[in-house]
Amino acid sequence: MIRIGALVSGGGTNLQAILDAIERENINAKICCVVSNKEGAYALERAEKKSIENCVIKKSDFNSQKEYELALVKYFKERNVDLIVLAGFMVILGEDFINEFENKIMNIHPALIPSFCGEGYYGLKVHKAVLDYGVKLTGATVHFVTAECDAGPIILQKAVDVFDDDTPEVLQKRVMEEAEWVIYPEAIKLFSENRLKIENGIVKRR
Ligand code: GRF
Repeated sequence: MIRIGALVSGGGTNLQAILDAIERENINAKICCVVSNKEGAYALERAEKKSIENCVIKKSDFNSQKEYELALVKYFKERNVDLIVLAGFMVILGEDFINEFENKIMNIHPALIPSFCGEGYYGLKVHKAVLDYGVKLTGATVHFVTAECDAGPIILQKAVDVFDDDTPEVLQKRVMEEAEWVIYPEAIKLFSENRLKIENGIVKRR
């Protein structure tokens, strides 16, 4: 059984989707701890309800980004996590953290990378940019995390339709319900079954 550590910042709907899928599909994984960078994040409530260890570790408690990241490394190493999932986590992590968990950190982005991603593309801003551009398909991407924002090896993607009368809020909800909450658990299941390999930066199935 793989041990998963989750990093969250907000509502935790992706965390909830993963928890529900683990139970429903009997995925050989366990979320053993949840860390938020924000006090009061509802994702912490979701962890508490499942008696999952959870805490707040925030950047302002440290003198530098490096110290903050090393504190996160220590926390997860002490709990022997095999995989870290960024679930609505809004902090950009650097090499001090990423290098300690190479190809063992996943993130979900609410667009089809390489479109509408990178610096400044997060939350509703992504969906507003999608609507402003006029694309007819968008979706979500699960990828391994590297030091470059939203640029790591892509694991899974799922497309959803964009409709003429969509607002950013309506589109965000559709992308979450029809894409994010489907492919994140799927990616974790593949990882738990050791069915993912990376060849020259491309994720392939074993
Ligand atoms: C979601 O849109 C997700 O794509 C992005 O953060 C948003 C909130 O996620 N990474 P959650 O509800 O906190 O899981």
